[in-house]
Amino acid sequence: MSDDNVIIFDTTLRDGEQSAGIGLTTQEKLVIARQLDRLGVDVIEAGFAASSPGDFEAVQAIAREVRRPVIASLARCVLPDVDAAWNAIKDAERPRIHVFISSSDVQIMNQLRKNPEEVMDMAIASVERAKSYCDDVEFSPMDATRTDIEYLYKMLEGAIAAGATTINIPDTVGYVMPWEFRERIRLIKENVPNIDKVTLSVHCHNDLGQAVGNSLAAVAEGARQVEGCINGLGERAGNAALEEVIMALETRKDLYGVSTNVNTRQIYRTSRLVSDITGFAVQPNKAIVGANAFRHASGIHQDGVLKDRTTFEIMDPQSIGWPSNELVLGKLSGRAGLRSRLDDLGYHLDQENLNEAFELFKNLADRKPEVTNADLVALMSSQRRIA
Ligand code: KIV
Ligand code: ZN
Repeated sequence: MSDDNVIIFDTTLRDGEQSAGIGLTTQEKLVIARQLDRLGVDVIEAGFAASSPGDFEAVQAIAREVRRPVIASLARCVLPDVDAAWNAIKDAERPRIHVFISSSDVQIMNQLRKNPEEVMDMAIASVERAKSYCDDVEFSPMDATRTDIEYLYKMLEGAIAAGATTINIPDTVGYVMPWEFRERIRLIKENVPNIDKVTLSVHCHNDLGQAVGNSLAAVAEGARQVEGCINGLGERAGNAALEEVIMALETRKDLYGVSTNVNTRQIYRTSRLVSDITGFAVQPNKAIVGANAFRHASGIHQDGVLKDRTTFEIMDPQSIGWPSNELVLGKLSGRAGLRSRLDDLGYHLDQENLNEAFELFKNLADRKPEVTNADLVALMSSQRRIA
């Protein structure tokens, strides 16, 4: 990996499955994992092996079948979890153990009910145990963005010394703003010994709607792995939507100067598959993969796009695997949009006939949010305007 490459870590099968209301079978996870492989993600977090026998089985099945990407299993910083993670992934071509533990006072005191020194020891012992099994070890201090920064530096230093090869900074509760997160990443890079020897990763949740922005801010500061889920699935309000992160890096290469190994033409197909299998619909106005992402409704926009697509489109729909943009005919459409659609339908009207058809069309459009091709054919037939 060059310094200009951002590792795409997909956790749809682990954090994505933590979306309340989603539960995936091993077969469903395998189908998604095969598609993630086609998409070209670098790491698939296949599950949390110690969490249930079913999850163990799914992680193991993916590790045995999906050979190109790194296959990771999550584990708490307790030794039996680390052992279970290893047992599930040991047949992978490129296994990774991902260990995590709370690092913020609020979680250490109120949830773990331990003292910070004990937690530090658990973190280090677990990284060491993971390292005894495999070279590729990721460490995450959970709730890192609400963690005392000096304690965080020490924990990260200890994890690196114990053998972690990726240090992941989770914004577990989606609390920070992009400029704060960027500053925290900068401070970590400046103050943690040997941080430049490992991959710096981020894992952002979307409670305040900042997950993608925070991930990108971290990339701007040098993070070289981004974790997220397809369609922004994940615990509570979800994780960073990977398709948004990927297309932002692609579209604004001028700004970030980085690339990924993703085949962006597989994005739409992946999003649909995940939506169909999980039963979680994608909202129509969702960036990149929503049904309206490449549909134009206003007359001014339609006129612009007909003259030159780039007037109102910053991405080519084909770049995400969607065949073409679409002009939606409705009350905001103008003559240019109507003429273009009638031409497509085989009605080549002169200006006078177009003006008359436009009037009829506008009357209809006031009664219907979208005038379909069938509506237009009926409208033209009833007016005997078949050219
Ligand atoms: O959000 C989080 O902190 C996590 C960790 C387990 C990485 O999902
Ligand atoms: Zn998470």
